Amino acid sequence: MKRIGILTSGGDAPGMNACIRAAVRAATAGDIEILGINRGYSGLIENDIHSLDRRTVANIIHLGGTILGTSRSTEFRTREGRNKAFSVLEEHGIEGLIIIGGEGSFLGGSLLQDESGVKIIGIPGTIDNDVYGTDLTIGFDTAVNCALEAIDRIRDTALSHQRLFFVEVMGRHTGFIALESGIGGGAEELIIPEESMNAEELSSRLQRSFSLGKKSAIVAVAEAGRPGNSVDLAKEVEQRTGFETKVCILGHLQRGGSPTARDRILASKLGVAAVNALMQGKSGLMAGEIKQKIAFTPIQESWERQKSLDSELRDLMGVLCD
Ligand code: F6P
Repeated sequence: MKRIGILTSGGDAPGMNACIRAAVRAATAGDIEILGINRGYSGLIENDIHSLDRRTVANIIHLGGTILGTSRSTEFRTREGRNKAFSVLEEHGIEGLIIIGGEGSFLGGSLLQDESGVKIIGIPGTIDNDVYGTDLTIGFDTAVNCALEAIDRIRDTALSHQRLFFVEVMGRHTGFIALESGIGGGAEELIIPEESMNAEELSSRLQRSFSLGKKSAIVAVAEAGRPGNSVDLAKEVEQRTGFETKVCILGHLQRGGSPTARDRILASKLGVAAVNALMQGKSGLMAGEIKQKIAFTPIQESWERQKSLDSELRDLMGVLCD
């Protein structure tokens, strides 16, 4: 393999730059040329490509976002779009592609591989941590720490005013961010899509806690694919309990900022592992980390199989939140 490409796709995640840097450095060390594809699959289709070297990725390890830019390309979901993408890859002589993103991005890349024969390796980069085949995704730890800081700040004001706060975090259809930031931030209750607690049950749990002397509380709510859902929930709880409620939706705040050490290190390991895999002629795999060891998983498992929440962590939250 003489030339590979790298792109970031889907929602950006802190640590993507550290991953790009690692891949570029591993490729150049292995005498492979590496090209950066801007704006994910949209940039690939539009031939928005430039070459990368050790110097172009200097001083980016600490930066949030992605220097390559990203997109959610609808055109790439079509056969025609992928055909265009393949001709661009051919034009540049790109034989292998590193895709940093989530399961949707991997599905697109996998179709491209099957239709064109280009080799692909996926690297899980999303704050949601919802990708099967890796304990953690790049960006998750930073997002959790961002949510945690927000919960700490909310706690100060919640306590001062003796209020009930709903803090809504991202996570698409999963509760990974809510669970970890909820435990770390000492949230009193957790609302996640993996469980079915409704406003009625939540209200009676909160009423019970307040009757036992609690003066303020924080409910960590996962967006559950419906950003803003905490507003309706808070309203209903307010009606049922008579408690004044306040809502804080963290939203895209959680996607930005400098990556934590844990994210930078994970990103660096996976960037190097992906290049090594391509150099060994591998394809159709996702490079992840399981129990602190690099693990390659067939890329289709990233969307065919579902990663579940750590049940021990969930139980821990149950014990601590009362
Ligand atoms: O996948 C990352 C994520 O931030 C999800 O948590 C969230 O549901 C979604 O992206 C938001 O996407 P967009 O930035 O396109 O609104």
